[in-house]
Amino acid sequence: MSGTHTPSGGSPRLNTSVAHNARVWNYWIGGKDNYEVDQRVGEQVAGMFPVIRDVARADRDFLGRAVRHLAAERGIRQFLDVGTGLPTVDNTHEIAQRIAPDSRIVYVDNDPIVLAHARTLLTSTPEGVTGYIDADVHDPDTIVAGAAATLDLGRPVAVMMLGILNFVLETDRAREIVRRIMAAVPPGSYLVLTHPTYDADLGGEGNVPAMEFWNANATPPITARGRAEVAAFLEGLDLVEPGLVPCSQWRADAPSPAAVPQFGAVAVKP
Ligand SMILES: C[S@@+](CC[C@H](N)C(=O)[O-])C[C@H]1O[C@@H](n2cnc3c(N)ncnc32)[C@H](O)[C@@H]1O
Repeated sequence: MSGTHTPSGGSPRLNTSVAHNARVWNYWIGGKDNYEVDQRVGEQVAGMFPVIRDVARADRDFLGRAVRHLAAERGIRQFLDVGTGLPTVDNTHEIAQRIAPDSRIVYVDNDPIVLAHARTLLTSTPEGVTGYIDADVHDPDTIVAGAAATLDLGRPVAVMMLGILNFVLETDRAREIVRRIMAAVPPGSYLVLTHPTYDADLGGEGNVPAMEFWNANATPPITARGRAEVAAFLEGLDLVEPGLVPCSQWRADAPSPAAVPQFGAVAVKP
């Protein structure tokens, strides 16, 4: 193990009486690191918006395809995974280091249960390194400073923001966070993004009542966005084919997968 761990002390205390996103997400993708309250809220949301499990799995599958593409075909050796979630079957460092053992990965989350499980994320090949920063996405300067302890910010980095900007409720603030982090990495770096949408053409209208229920019963509060707002996060970057699409359809392994109401995109900093 060659991991580093940087506690910031800023995390809220572990609360097992309120459903937390990291644990409910873990429940939807079939994990075991969740409590009864997470299962109950997860079931209620899934009852209102049955596609949510497909969304969660499609998002993780997209993560795998995007990391494999970047490591195998674009030569990326550094990953900054913001809002990483609880460890699961194939985490970013495992996928990247299978292709390139010298890959360096920094994980970021602010949920105390993710911090508690960080050991699993901090395994690494001997040639590579993994780090963990306990930080809030609303504080990009702390994230950049912490990442610089493990990553060489003079070399390209894949900034992974999967299912995280939806927790930054003000769109202008979310755009500023993306700008700040992408400004800290050099040309040739990538932004990898997924984001839920309420766009009806992707079946996203059910996100509206489901997220209202979530915001009344769970934490942290969440929002969906329309295509134009999600596209704006990618401004100034060059989209990798096939562009901004339902994440299930981004360089899919199987032919014609169903669309899910969760956008996915990979874009490079020119
Ligand atoms: C929907 S999960 C996504 C997990 C993973 N990126 C994926 O796509 O499978 C969102 C993660 O973001 C984390 N998160 C939520 N708000 C955050 C914040 N303000 N700062 C840092 N992480 C946050 C949650 O704890 C959770 O682990």
